[in-house]
Amino acid sequence: MDAESTALVPPPGCPAHGTGARVPLYGPEFAADPHAYYDYMRQFGATTAVELAPGVDATLITDYGTALQMLQDPSSFRKDARRWRALKEGRVPADSPVLPLLAYRPNCLFSDGVEHLRLRQAVTDSLAKIDSRRVAQRTQQISDYLIAQFSSRGSADLIGEYTKQLPLFVFTELFGCPADIGDRVLFGISGMFDGVNAGKAVEVLFQASADLVALKRVKPGDDVASWLMKHEVGLSDEELVYELGVMLGAGSEPLRNLIGNTMHRLLTHDQYAHKGGLISEALDDTLWGNPPLTNFLPHYAATDMEFAGTKLQSGDLVLVSIAAANNDRTLAAARQSGSNRAHLSFSAGPHACPSKETARHITVTAIENLLNRLPDIELAVPADSLSWRPGPFSRSLTALPTRFTAVQPVHRAPASQPRQEAPAREEVPTSTRKAERGGLWSSFLSWLAK
Ligand code: HEM
Repeated sequence: MDAESTALVPPPGCPAHGTGARVPLYGPEFAADPHAYYDYMRQFGATTAVELAPGVDATLITDYGTALQMLQDPSSFRKDARRWRALKEGRVPADSPVLPLLAYRPNCLFSDGVEHLRLRQAVTDSLAKIDSRRVAQRTQQISDYLIAQFSSRGSADLIGEYTKQLPLFVFTELFGCPADIGDRVLFGISGMFDGVNAGKAVEVLFQASADLVALKRVKPGDDVASWLMKHEVGLSDEELVYELGVMLGAGSEPLRNLIGNTMHRLLTHDQYAHKGGLISEALDDTLWGNPPLTNFLPHYAATDMEFAGTKLQSGDLVLVSIAAANNDRTLAAARQSGSNRAHLSFSAGPHACPSKETARHITVTAIENLLNRLPDIELAVPADSLSWRPGPFSRSLTALPTRFTAVQPVHRAPASQPRQEAPAREEVPTSTRKAERGGLWSSFLSWLAK
């Protein structure tokens, strides 16, 4: 359900209702109807005391103006998670499912001030070198490959068989991952966001990232990892590993959800025809109404302060409910009058997403290609039977079952032969590579080479 269907009712099953307790942002009730929770929380004013996971407390901003005020005030609100008071005081369970995403790492996402400028500069300059034609071409090839796996069947779960893999594939290509490392990156990122054995997944992702750094030191290429390495700010190997990790992670999970949520909107809202510029309209509507990252943008109070009527202590965790802020009813008029991209889905301020145009481009290309190949695709189940993954941070369907007229798989020859070849195994350092190989990236490369 998205913002259009909200009603001012207490969230069904919300254990905090009427008790003054923190509002839980996890569990099936929240996942089933988050907008009922946001409406409920607005009664408390601009911020609400929430629980992100059992034992993990935070302050959540639900008001658009207040969210902007925090995002644009980096001297009062910091990103460095080593400031997190509850974590320092040992009050966050060591095995909490939210820790892999919130724990500090030495990259742009967790840094402030001059250090942030330095780390972000390397990221933005490297991302700016990506050739948009190459993005379009690769996205289309990967889309064709994924569609070829199910097109003759006449049915597919678009989440499990399409949106989940596509961004990861595009990224392993743009970052110059050879098959072996690409497979481990895919395994690590999927596991990290699915929360299944997340500790192991994080280890695999960063080991794969470290192996990529080691490989590019020896054999640089025409890819984001090599550009990052050569950047004039001079990143250390450790910084490179964590910068690559955040780019791959920040890029793939939100992108997967953006493609999935936009497809969901196209398939469930009659006003969109299946072709043409309406994809981009559905994309904007998704970014407003059903954004991929729902409650995120973690910041830490720099000092004890009073903010939007709430007392904060230095190091308290504050997040933005992007979904609630975007759907602030006072915004509707501003949106109609032309600021159709003023949503917070790519954040705002110094840490705003540096890759929103690339993300839009990949999303539109992936959906356009799917609709061109399978023009009569439709939902195979009633819309209200679809379910959403639980969790405080993202908004994504568990499955999106579809049906269409079965077609033979296309194998479009690439305009130029694939630039990338898997290196000899001996060139990839370290030992962890075997166990986690999913083989997905390897299969794509073999398909492309046919
Ligand atoms: C092409 C794919 C993408 C790449 C490479 C990418 C990369 C990044 C990076 C490196 C950052 C950290 C910037 C900093 O701290 O200075 C970031 C932040 C962010 N990105 Fe993206 N991103 C991508 C797609 C997306 C998508 C699809 C969304 C959702 C609509 C999104 C939403 C955000 C948000 C909300 C932040 C701020 C996070 C925070 O401050 O906690 N990104 N992105």
